[in-house]
Amino acid sequence: MTVPSRPAPSILILAAHPDLAHSRITRAMLSAAHDLPNVRVRDLYALYPDYSIDTQAEQDALRDAELLVWLHPMHWYGMPALMKLWVDEVLSVGFAYGQAGHALHGKDLWLVSSTGGSAHSYSAEGYNRHPVGDFLLPYAQTAALCGMRFLPPLILHGAQKADTAQVQAHAQAFTEGLRELPQWCERQPEPAQEAVPDDERPANQEGVPV
Ligand SMILES: Cc1cc2nc3c(=O)[nH]c(=O)nc-3n(C[C@H](O)[C@H](O)[C@H](O)COP(=O)(O)O)c2cc1C
Repeated sequence: MTVPSRPAPSILILAAHPDLAHSRITRAMLSAAHDLPNVRVRDLYALYPDYSIDTQAEQDALRDAELLVWLHPMHWYGMPALMKLWVDEVLSVGFAYGQAGHALHGKDLWLVSSTGGSAHSYSAEGYNRHPVGDFLLPYAQTAALCGMRFLPPLILHGAQKADTAQVQAHAQAFTEGLRELPQWCERQPEPAQEAVPDDERPANQEGVPV
């Protein structure tokens, strides 16, 4: 008896690069993923050059996605400014967290990024003094609060010095990861959504935490 294969999961790539025209790595990732059938891309800086995010459209796009990819270069040990604004405005209480906020529960979050710093720079002996994972704790905890599984990030270090073969290998790892879903996600632990206590959540106009 043949076991029916699961349909390819719906993948949403949120790309955030403030100067995509001059990007080498992020642009290579986007063109590598371009032809995959189950992938949608939202290029935040193209959609919102004025930083005025359509929260409803973003939340609607998230509802259908099983895997959410955050694709951006590392800027000052975190995400570019528009991506952070997207997190602030789109992952709102009652949608992404809080008592009624379960829209993202059970989805997977994959960070695909690049750093100017070399792999060695992200070590106790290097000038960045910490492993790159230390800088990604807010991502992992954001995923946990929303009940998303935070997949092992894919990071290319030493972006400026990376030769063509290294960029191609990074792009290939990216597309292979996208193609091997959902088997790859299923090997990761089940996500659980962390609850925020009533008195630590925003309240509505009646003073009731949402
Ligand atoms: C404003 C800015 C901040 C940056 N901050 C960091 C950083 O904190 N750590 C790091 O390793 N590289 C940093 N970089 C280097 C970028 O991460 C690197 O150039 C990028 O990953 C290359 O990808 P791209 O070709 O898509 O631009 C920074 C670059 C810029 C422009």
